Amino acid sequence: MTDAPRVRHALPPAHWPSADEAARALLFRPLAVGPVQVASRTWVPAMVPWRASEDGFVTPNVLDWYGRFADGRPGVLVVEATGIRDVPSGPLLRASHDRFVPGLRDLVRVVRERSGGATRLLLQIIDFLAIRRRPEKAKFFARFLALTDRHRDAVRERFGAAAAADDAAVRAQLAACDDAALQAILTPREFRDCAFGQRDEVNDLHQPHVRELPRVLPDLFALAALRARDAGFDGVELHYAHAYTMASFLSRTNVRDDGYGGSPTARRRLPLEVFAAVRARVGRDFVVGTRFLGDEVIDGGSRIDDAIGHGTAFAAAGFDFLSISKGGRFEDAKQPHTGEAAYPYTGPSGHECMPTVRSDHRGPFGRNVHLAAAVRAAVRAAGHPTPVVAAGGICDFAQAEAILRAGHADLIAAARQSLADPDWWLKMRLGRGAEVRRCLFTNYCEGLDQRHKEVTCQLWDRDFAAADGAAAPRSQDGKRRLLPPPWRP
Ligand SMILES: Cc1cc2nc3c(=O)[nH]c(=O)nc-3n(C[C@H](O)[C@H](O)[C@H](O)COP(=O)(O)O)c2cc1C
Ligand code: SF4
Repeated sequence: MTDAPRVRHALPPAHWPSADEAARALLFRPLAVGPVQVASRTWVPAMVPWRASEDGFVTPNVLDWYGRFADGRPGVLVVEATGIRDVPSGPLLRASHDRFVPGLRDLVRVVRERSGGATRLLLQIIDFLAIRRRPEKAKFFARFLALTDRHRDAVRERFGAAAAADDAAVRAQLAACDDAALQAILTPREFRDCAFGQRDEVNDLHQPHVRELPRVLPDLFALAALRARDAGFDGVELHYAHAYTMASFLSRTNVRDDGYGGSPTARRRLPLEVFAAVRARVGRDFVVGTRFLGDEVIDGGSRIDDAIGHGTAFAAAGFDFLSISKGGRFEDAKQPHTGEAAYPYTGPSGHECMPTVRSDHRGPFGRNVHLAAAVRAAVRAAGHPTPVVAAGGICDFAQAEAILRAGHADLIAAARQSLADPDWWLKMRLGRGAEVRRCLFTNYCEGLDQRHKEVTCQLWDRDFAAADGAAAPRSQDGKRRLLPPPWRP
């Protein structure tokens, strides 16, 4: 899908409530989410902050990070995408083995203490397929391309017999080709592997590990959920959104012919089997919800009609909440530099996932609420009370309250506004909204995420004059605060 022309939008004027108004607000009223009561309808969605250890353990910086969000007492705090496979995956949290449980237990303890027990804690659990960095062109043709007669013939036809004298000559000739010639000679997939880096897809049934996904994923998700339960979490969020395995199963681009692709029913078969396996392990008194896409925003991808079908089926199956996100796919990601991996938040679908003030005429604020509203309406029409979570450019009390009052969503998620100021929920609740540090929606934080650097916010990361002064933990280069300055009510 093409990127619509963008203009720069101003932040909308903020409408902060008095303490009395907040006390009457729907936003601060409790709600049942599956088996638990949530104290308010405020939600911090998952954000990877790149603070886990290289081998996936909770570190003191992870504890500080979630403790700081807990200070603001959101109704629900979702811990970042956490891997279910016991394989090296850099500084991303893992729940892929029992050895990770003690660290996760510490995380639960810190959030309970810092929120005074007010915040429900969920772990977002994720599976992702292999992705490689963009290779050097010469290396790709020398080592990675599986040479076939199709390549040999095409090179002979275009460049003459000498260029196709033997495989080494064919490889050397291909390495010397420009993109136009390569696009004519290679398959679209081979060209993509060369230009963007190789990545597995759920459609790659010729690869045994991809074919086997329906056999292995239910147990992997279920065991990770059980570890979250053992660690004391209130529940898990099954990550069925963005660029990752389960979202790709749900996608219209999933054309597997093994019963797990093609029709909408077949595409959600594995997501439902994963849910059933998780539920069977953790029981009914543990929250099991999902985050999935209201719209993939890619050519040939799923749209709201698919999301409505998926959401209704998930609600019927007994998911405890449905959290609606948008976009964030690899298919339209920008070409990475050589030696870097594609990042799924760089193309038009990425912009829809984390919209900035440089946006089309609709602007970024509450931009994706209509998707949550459409899913919620269909779920209610089918007779299910399942709570629906809306996210995307929500940063103001009046806006959040209006979404709830209109019945567009049951819970309000704010990622970047909570990063800019994790106390903003509490400030609103206390009638001190004027003190909220407002997110600028220019995605400095996302740029750090893209480079796998510790995520911080431009509004506070150089504030060394704050009350905690020199004691504030700093980024590895020593230049940025790792935590927002403290705020005392
Ligand atoms: C630094 C960063 C990391 C993120 N990591 C995740 C993640 O691990 N899982 C997820 O579902 N969404 C992730 N997101 C997306 C957010 O949860 C949220 O959907 C998005 O930022 C839009 O909401 P907002 O406008 O309130 O920021 C991330 C966003 C940011 C800025
Ligand atoms: S870095 Fe920018 S976009 Fe990110 S939370 Fe801070 S102000 Fe918002």
